[in-house]
Amino acid sequence: MVSRITPVRRLDHLGVPMVNDHVRLLRELRAVRRFTSDPVPQHLLDDLLEVARWTGSRGNRQPWEVILVRTRKTLETLGAVAGAKGLRHLAGAAAAFVLVPCGPLTEFDAGRWTERVMLAAAAHGLGSSVAWFPENQASAAMAVLGVPSDRPVRTAISVGYPADDSAHLVSVERDVDHRLPLAAMEIGRKPLAEILHVERYGQRMPDQPTDGRPTHHG
Ligand SMILES: Cc1cc2nc3c(=O)[nH]c(=O)nc-3n(C[C@H](O)[C@H](O)[C@H](O)COP(=O)(O)O)c2cc1C
Repeated sequence: MVSRITPVRRLDHLGVPMVNDHVRLLRELRAVRRFTSDPVPQHLLDDLLEVARWTGSRGNRQPWEVILVRTRKTLETLGAVAGAKGLRHLAGAAAAFVLVPCGPLTEFDAGRWTERVMLAAAAHGLGSSVAWFPENQASAAMAVLGVPSDRPVRTAISVGYPADDSAHLVSVERDVDHRLPLAAMEIGRKPLAEILHVERYGQRMPDQPTDGRPTHHG
């Protein structure tokens, strides 16, 4: 079993994990969509559920419930919902967390919940990825899971041990047969110079050209 994400483990003299490891965990979080067949121990899944439960929400409304899915057949069925390619990674995951709203759930709430669970997974050396059910196809997933029709499910997270050291390098894997070339989304990010404004929109950081030419304050 290969685990790409190093679990937080460097400790200071008091035995407290060093801050840099936490920041590294945040910076290095990437989607992992290929997993080994190893099961994830229940105590780790329980830990992720605790992280999910403690996620903050507007007015502390906690507008969520979660379905923990571990059955291979259900994972495969979810991964094949309406042929939505972005969901395929669910099929090979050790488990999935499906976010079920119970009340008005904003995308902000859902995003916060999702990112926390993914970060906690990474802290345990697990890989994970978002599965976002297309609005017009979510009902198929809801039927599989027995979710009432007034609880519109959109978000699930696949979790498992990364298949290999390059499992995080392809952002979206469209091919089920991994021997075939992968159609990949770019995995990089826009340079900071392209997205950063200082004090006022349009004011750039000195020495951070956006288009190859130097830019100036003022
Ligand atoms: C709202 C949202 C929906 C996403 N939906 C999917 C999805 O359905 N399937 C998938 O494989 N990845 C999904 N992703 C993951 C993104 O594709 C991924 O974060 C992005 O390509 C950057 O890759 P990285 O996280 O590996 O750096 C989603 C991410 C967000 C924020």
